[in-house]
Order: sequence, then structure tokens, then C-alpha cells
Amino acid sequence: MLVNGKHYRTIWLSEDKKAVEIIDQRKLPFKFVIEGIQDVDKMCEAIRDMHLRGAGLIGSAAAYGMYLAALASVESTHLERSAQCLLSTRPTAVNLSYAVNKVLKKLKDSPEQERLAIACEMAGEISDMDAMQCKMIGRHGVKLIEEIGRRKKGETVNILTHCNAGWLAFVDYGSALSPIYEAFRKGINLHVYVDETRPRNQGARLTAWELAMQGVPHTVIADNTGGHLMQHGLVDMVIVGADRVAANGDTANKIGTYLKALAAKDNHVPFYVAFPSTTRDLAINDGIKEIEIEKRSGREVSFIEGLYEGKIVEVQLTPKESEAVNYGFDVTPARLITAWITEEGVFDFRQS
Ligand code: MRU
Repeated sequence: MLVNGKHYRTIWLSEDKKAVEIIDQRKLPFKFVIEGIQDVDKMCEAIRDMHLRGAGLIGSAAAYGMYLAALASVESTHLERSAQCLLSTRPTAVNLSYAVNKVLKKLKDSPEQERLAIACEMAGEISDMDAMQCKMIGRHGVKLIEEIGRRKKGETVNILTHCNAGWLAFVDYGSALSPIYEAFRKGINLHVYVDETRPRNQGARLTAWELAMQGVPHTVIADNTGGHLMQHGLVDMVIVGADRVAANGDTANKIGTYLKALAAKDNHVPFYVAFPSTTRDLAINDGIKEIEIEKRSGREVSFIEGLYEGKIVEVQLTPKESEAVNYGFDVTPARLITAWITEEGVFDFRQS
């Protein structure tokens, strides 16, 4: 997608193939910084500390992490240790284990002298597939927006989204935002309400920045605003992303998604989940009971970051005596979801 008119992906290999380059998302929207990652330990740190984030991008980064591991040594115990390090970084998005296990298995099944080239090729393939799947999500999802646009006879289609499931969360295009970009390209009159998405504000910082870069009309709202907007007919549809979709359709996504789905149900607003099929986890039957929910530092709740006199600074929000708890995700039950949009089409998993 475009950054100041120039095309970027979120992750790529350096020209000499000795490092992986990423957009350091901790600095957005205030600074656009490219970071070079030279080894697998640094990649683990980048995923854990969220220099990069989002289900699809975590998967691609983990695959490139295995390539960085192979650059140091193609010996099996080293590759296994590196895989363990990557797997331990973040638990909820299934794309990470999908990518690590796929690359590790292939490397272990291959002769040592071929492993480095295979790791490089696989990381590229996993990333290209992610971008392609997201592009297709846009092609399928746009039909839902077009349909509402037709019903409203060209009046503005208002879409609410939560967190960041745009191109920054993937290799390119995004999941929830991909149909929105496609609709915008087709000239559909639309507007996006962007949940700020406390505690890390991926909506206010990343989704808003993405939409601004592409010129898509949008408004940032405080997290608690969505229900009010829906009650007053100001939201035509909700589209969110996913970090893990269970066999029964229960969907883990950024904390707060469940409350938006409840409000949508109560107000008869269609609620869609967009994701590439690498985010589906058929080994999990009951998402609410079985999906592991990441708990992060309470500091992300007690403090907030912003720009002050040109510098990114952190300020405290809560009394220093107060504890804070920080669940990264929640699970929206399938019964609250109208349909799921994947690279293969629009589905109702409750019927499968
Ligand atoms: O904690 P994050 O930023 O890695 O969370 C992931 C997300 O951005 C969202 O949950 C998103 O909607 C799904 S990932 C495409």
C-alpha cells in the first residue's frame, strides 16, 4: 500500500539478504521508521514487543525469523531452539505457529546444504500468499459494501472497525480494511468509524494513519462510542479482523471486539469478520473455552504514549498504587457474527 505515494509492504528482505526489514509500528503515526533485523533473537523481540504486530504479519515475520535462524546455522537443534523462541513470543494469533511449524518441518525434512535456500524461499512464499489472500478478501468483501451502497442509493456507507486489521497487520492490503480499500477504489461513497482500541491504540494510531495515507474518509472514536452510533443508525456494518477462528466460528480478535458484536446484534447491524484461512484453527472446537488469550503488561493500561514537542513520550494515566490488568484479546461467539470473509468467499460457519 502507499506511504506518501510510495508503495511498501510491511516486511521484506534486505538487498544483500542478510537482514529482514520492517516498518517499526511502535513509532507510527508520528514517525515512519524502517528497522533492520539481523538475527532470530531480535526477531523474537520485535514480535514480542510489537515493533510489528497483526496476525498475518506475525506469521510472515516468524517465517523470516526461521530464515534468520538458518543464516546462523542450519543444524537441527539450532533450528528447533529458534522455532521455540518464535513460538513463545505471542500466543493468540495462530498464523505464528502455522508459519513456524511449516518451515521447521520442511527444513528438517531437507538435506542441510539446501536448508538456507529453502527457508528463504518459504518465507517469501508465506508472505506472498498472505498478500494474495488479503487481496482476495477485498474482492469478496467489497460486494457486501456495494450491496449496502445500492440500498442506500449512493448515500454514504458507514463502516465501523476495531483495532488494526489493515495492511499494517499483514504483508499487504489487510483483512478488514481490504474490502474498504477496494470499495474506495471503486468510487463507493463510504466513511469509516475507527475505534481507538485501548490500551495500545492500534485503531487511533495505525488504522487512522493507514486510512489517511490512502485518502479514505474516517473518524476516530473513543472505544465506548460504537453502541451509541449504532442505536442512532449511524453504522451500516461492522468489519473486524481475527487472530484465531475456531472450528465452531468463535473468533478471537483484539480486546473489545465482543462488546461491539453485542451492540451490533442488539441494533441489527451486520457484523463481519475478515481473515485469511491461515487464521482458522480447526483443532479448536470451542473458541471461548479453548483459545489462549494473551495477557500483556498492565503498564500498557496505566500509561499512554503520544507526541509531545516532536518527541514520542509516555505519560501515566492511573494512580501509581492502582493495579492494571491487560487482556490482549477476547472471543466473539459465532452466534453474534453475520458472516466470515476469507480469500475464498463469504461464509456462514454456523451452518458448516
Ligand atoms: O495485538 P495485535 O495488534 O497484534 O492484535 C492483532 C490485531 O491487530 C487485531 O486483533 C486484528 O483485528 C486482527 S490481526 C489482523
